[in-house]
Formats: sequence, C-alpha cells, structure tokens
Amino acid sequence: MLKPKTRDEIASAYISEPWWYDLRGFFILTFAYNSTLTSQLRFFSPNFGEKHLEVACGTGTMLELVLRWRRWKKLPESQITGIDYAESMLAGAIKRFSKETSVDLQHADAAALPFADNTFDTANIANSIHCFPDVDGALLDIHRTLKPGGTLAANVLLYPRTPWPFNGFAERINNWGIRKGILYTPYEQAAIRQKIVNSGFKVLSETVSGNCYNILCCKQ
Ligand SMILES: C[S@@+](CC[C@H](N)C(=O)[O-])C[C@H]1O[C@@H](n2cnc3c(N)ncnc32)[C@H](O)[C@@H]1O
Repeated sequence: MLKPKTRDEIASAYISEPWWYDLRGFFILTFAYNSTLTSQLRFFSPNFGEKHLEVACGTGTMLELVLRWRRWKKLPESQITGIDYAESMLAGAIKRFSKETSVDLQHADAAALPFADNTFDTANIANSIHCFPDVDGALLDIHRTLKPGGTLAANVLLYPRTPWPFNGFAERINNWGIRKGILYTPYEQAAIRQKIVNSGFKVLSETVSGNCYNILCCKQ
C-alpha cells in the first residue's frame, strides 16, 4: 500500500518545467485516464457562468484550452477566478494569463477558499480531485462558495477499469504518481459520488469513460 503524500509534498511535487508538465499531463491523460483532450473540452466548456471558479487551475493549460474552445463556439465570456495550492504552478498561470483581464489568479487551498459564501455561479475541477489530500474539505468549501443552484463539474481518476493490458499500464502510472506526489489517490466511482452528495450537491449528470468519471452536480 503506497503512502499518500501531504498537501505540502503534493505542492512541491508540482515544481517542474512547463514543457515537462504538459508532456507528462498528455501521457497521464491518455494512458491513466484513458481519455482525450476533446472529451475534456466538451465536458468542461459548457460549465462557465457569469462568475466562475477554476479550482486547482495549475499552470492554466487546460483552462486556456477550454477558454479558446468557448470563444471558438462563441459562448459568452465569464469573470474567472483561478486558484491553486502550488505556488510554482500558479506562477505559470499568472504568466500565461497576464493579458487576460477576465482571469484573476490567487494562491489558495481548495479546502480553505478565501471567498465569501454564495459567490460563484459555476466551478470546475479539472484533473485534480484525486490530487486533493482533503477532498471532503474541498467539496464542502466549493459548495459554500457556490450560489444556490450553482453548478460544479469535475472529472475524477478511477482505479483502472480498462481491460488487460491497459489496466496494468494505468495502475503503474497511478502508483508512480502517488510515489511522486502528483497524485493523492484514484477513487471508486461510488465512493467519490457519495462524498460529492454528502457535501450537499445534487447530481445532474454522470458518465464514465475509460478510467475517468465525469460528474456535473449543483448546490441545492
Ligand atoms: C494535475 S494538476 C491539474 C491542473 C489543471 N486543472 C489542469 O487540468 O491542467 C493538479 C493540480 O492540483 C493542485 N492541487 C492539489 N491539491 C490542491 C489543493 N488542496 N488546493 C488547491 N490546489 C491543489 C496542484 O497544485 C496541481 O496544480
């Protein structure tokens, strides 16, 4: 049994060159999540209200792609607040969005958000729930800062469920991620769903594709 890392160990594990982070991300997305970039763009891009919270935005790679996708689809602009716990990752996002007036970036822990109750219309957690050491605390605080009826979209890395030989491959990548500290734990679908419901969310839609669980829920 691998011992998961602490929050600070996870933050320091994210100190890496942007090119390596992106290459590693592509590798993990393809072989551990068994997912594609297009399916992530289709899942996350509709969930942007007037005031949007991007939780664990990292260097903003995914957020930037989603925003480009939204512009290409001529979807309305949002006022976006992005947070991340790893300062090195956030520094990358600050640089990336330096000319974007609609994106505000702040250093914060998902489980202790520095925002008032009922602030945001929408929130996304892309490729990150399984990195949170305190997932219950994060879900409760995201719920607190969403407005009633506000929606949360999240994708969650599941224990490998793809057939042999891909399951063994995914399992090795997951174990490597846990050892390195870039992954806290994958989940069973029912277990993470229960945590989301226990935090006060109502499930609106859910799908499993590859080793990835996509869930859209709202604050009741
Ligand atoms: C795999 S990256 C995903 C980044 C981005 N969402 C994307 O898809 O490109 C996971 C991110 O979660 C962040 N993270 C982990 N625990 C966190 C916490 N408790 N609060 C905020 N961010 C956290 C890490 O610092 C890292 O940037």
